[in-house]
Amino acid sequence: MSNLHPDLARIMITVEEIQERVGELADQISEDYSGVERIYIIGVLKGAFIFLADLTRQLRVPHVVDFMALSSYGRTTVSGAVRIVMDLREPIEGQHVLIVEDIVDSGQTLSYLHNILRGRSPASLKTCALLQKERNKSDVPIDYLGFRIPDVWVVGYGLDFADKHRTLPYIAEMKK
Ligand code: IMP
Ligand code: MG
Repeated sequence: MSNLHPDLARIMITVEEIQERVGELADQISEDYSGVERIYIIGVLKGAFIFLADLTRQLRVPHVVDFMALSSYGRTTVSGAVRIVMDLREPIEGQHVLIVEDIVDSGQTLSYLHNILRGRSPASLKTCALLQKERNKSDVPIDYLGFRIPDVWVVGYGLDFADKHRTLPYIAEMKK
């Protein structure tokens, strides 16, 4: 694209590719949860908000939406612990919980969240992520995955770099 922002190296996943894949994920989730009273969907802020909005509007099973915000203490450190910045509104005991994440990189965030939520005794706990980086070898399985991508920094469709480029409609690779 000729008018690509100078921060960006290339468009990695187009608007059309995202929409098609999100539709497929919504179909799969709707099928797997048919018969369940409702899904308790947890969007991880900020990154997942656009993906979550598109995904949930295509679900054909009852669901409610809640949010959590997490933050890592320095992504550059090896230990890099995660903490909860904003918690859920409701207890999730007995609920069929689906975590919706933008991207799984090292897997640390998802693994932390999964542990915390499992401790709250949901009826079931599954994960959905739009993107997974190749280097990820997370212990937590991603039940619904949009795309596997190379180990580069991507922005757009909810993902940011220092809060920039979050609302681009496509997913783009940042220049190094
Ligand atoms: P992890 O704990 O290393 O898996 O990192 C997960 C979090 O880091 C994601 O939920 C994102 O918020 C952020 N992140 C990781 N890689 C990227 C990227 O390429 N672009 C934007 N955010 C990213
Ligand atoms: Mg995230």
